[in-house]
Amino acid sequence: MGRHRPSLYSAAVATPSIASSSKVDPVAIIGASGALGFGLALRLARTGVPIVIGSRDAERAADTAKRAHELVPDASFTGLDNGDAARAAEVVFLSVPFRNQSETLTNLKKALIPGQLLIDATVPLAAAVSGKATRMLGVWQGSAAQQALEMAPDGVHVVSALHTISAASLSDPEHPLNQDVLVCGDSRAQKRRAAKVIERIDGLRCVDCGKLEMARTTESLTALLISVNTRYKIHTGIHLTGLPTDLWE
Ligand SMILES: NC(=O)c1ccc[n+]([C@@H]2O[C@H](COP(=O)([O-])OP(=O)(O)OC[C@H]3O[C@@H](n4cnc5c(N)ncnc54)[C@H](OP(=O)(O)O)[C@@H]3O)[C@@H](O)[C@H]2O)c1
Repeated sequence: MGRHRPSLYSAAVATPSIASSSKVDPVAIIGASGALGFGLALRLARTGVPIVIGSRDAERAADTAKRAHELVPDASFTGLDNGDAARAAEVVFLSVPFRNQSETLTNLKKALIPGQLLIDATVPLAAAVSGKATRMLGVWQGSAAQQALEMAPDGVHVVSALHTISAASLSDPEHPLNQDVLVCGDSRAQKRRAAKVIERIDGLRCVDCGKLEMARTTESLTALLISVNTRYKIHTGIHLTGLPTDLWE
C-alpha cells in the first residue's frame, strides 16, 4: 500500500509468538474499548486474527489489550491510539457511538489510505442525543455508513455490517451466535472481503443486502431488536430464511 506502517507489535500487550508466526492479517478495531468492539475483538482473536485495539487514548488501548489478553491468552492483541491502529491493518472496523463517528473519522483522515476497507457498525440511534434507543436519527447522507463514506479519504472502501449483532452475545463465548450479519456496500468484492473476516466467527453468516444506501434500513433494525430485547429480556439477532447455501460465490 505504499506507506510505512508502524510495527504492529511495538506497543502494549501482544503475544509475539503468535503474532510473528501468524499468517493471518491483523484487523484494527476503532472503539474496541467499548461494548461491541471488545466483543468483536475477543471473537475474532479466538479464530487466530491478530487484533489491533484502537482508542482515542493509547493507555486505554493498552489496558483494553491487556484485558482482552487475559480472556483469550493464546491470541494477539495490540493497543494503539486510533490513528496508529488504523495504520496497522488493511481492514478497519469502526465501532463508536454515532455522536462521535464524524469526529473519529475526521481524526482518521490522515491515517486511512486508499485500498483499506472500513467496516462501519455505527447505528444512528436517537440515544446518541439523549433520545430513545428504539428511535432512529435522520442522517443527512441517508445512513451512518453513507456519512462514513463521505468522510473517509478517497479510495477507502466502506462497507456497513454488524448492526444487528449484540455486544453482549459477542462478549459471551458460551453464547451460540447462529445469526446473520447484514452487509451493505457499493462493491461486491469489498463486501466479500468483509464477509471473509466476519465469517471467521463461528455462527455468523454474512448476507449481501445490497448497496451502501441499504444501510439506512439495516441500521434501523437495531432499534427494532432493542425493542424486542426489552420485552423478552434477551439479546436477539436476525436470521434470514430461504437463502442459498453459498452466498458469496
Ligand atoms: N452495543 C451493541 O450491542 C451494538 C450492536 C450493534 C451496533 N452497535 C453500534 O456500534 C457502535 C459502538 O457501540 P458500543 O456499544 O460499543 O459503544 P460504546 O461502548 O459506547 O463506545 C465504543 C467506544 O467508542 C469510543 N468513543 C469515541 N468517542 C467517544 C465519546 N465521545 N464518548 C464515548 N465513547 C467514545 C470509546 O473508545 P475510546 O474511549 O477508547 O476511544 C468507546 O469505548 C455504536 O454506533 C452502536 O450503535 C452497538
